[in-house]
Amino acid sequence: MKPLIVANWKMNPLNLAQAKRLFNSVKRGLKNIKKAEVVICPPFVFISNFQNLSSNNLKLGAQNLFWEEIGAYTGEISGAMLKNIKCQYVIVGHSERRRYFGENEEMINKKLKAALELKLFPILCVGETQNEREKGETESILKKQIEGALKKISRQKIEKLKLFIAYEPVWAIGTGKPCDFEEAQKMGLVIKKIISKIYNSINFAQKIPILYGGSVNSRNGIGYIKEAGLQGLLVGGASLNAKEFVNLIRKIC
Ligand code: PGA
Repeated sequence: MKPLIVANWKMNPLNLAQAKRLFNSVKRGLKNIKKAEVVICPPFVFISNFQNLSSNNLKLGAQNLFWEEIGAYTGEISGAMLKNIKCQYVIVGHSERRRYFGENEEMINKKLKAALELKLFPILCVGETQNEREKGETESILKKQIEGALKKISRQKIEKLKLFIAYEPVWAIGTGKPCDFEEAQKMGLVIKKIISKIYNSINFAQKIPILYGGSVNSRNGIGYIKEAGLQGLLVGGASLNAKEFVNLIRKIC
């Protein structure tokens, strides 16, 4: 499988001109790159401007979705709407959504179900805070988040589509303090173990691609793929600089 490199632009940039510049620079930089699948997740308001620009190795994603398809849900965007503007991927349960917008396991579970139903590839984010890590709760937090997110989602449903799980320790996000490769590898195995218990199959768990996210840049990105053996990256800050982001990808390919 090609590594999946996801750019999470978060609430950036400020205007469409800047968004177009960034998107086009990345697209140019990725010409001839075939050994990675790259997904750009811009803010909702910019996505439709890029719907006809995705290509074989550059796809579009969203940072969130709402679980209902249409109706009186002020301020929300549905997965069906995202499909209509050619989004193929969607980030679900990012820690910033959990923290600032009160997303809990039940909501994340509904979002995941909606995404799978619509054949949007979900990238489920999980990860512990600094405090939880210090208290030795990392594994139990991952277990709670993964079990909650996957509740009543059948193996068949996931198998038909792709589900990506991003290990994103909250303490590493936007802090410049990335998780080291060995620890990321270990957490990848912990996640696979949790999945294998839920679905009673080691074989199935092996097939779930695990991404790492949290202070990834062009220097350390390659380590999570080549040393830690993970299947992809979720990149925040470093994806806002086209040169840095393209460099990161080029090193991996
Ligand atoms: P960061 O963000 O790369 O800026 O740490 C990663 C993320 O939140 O997905």
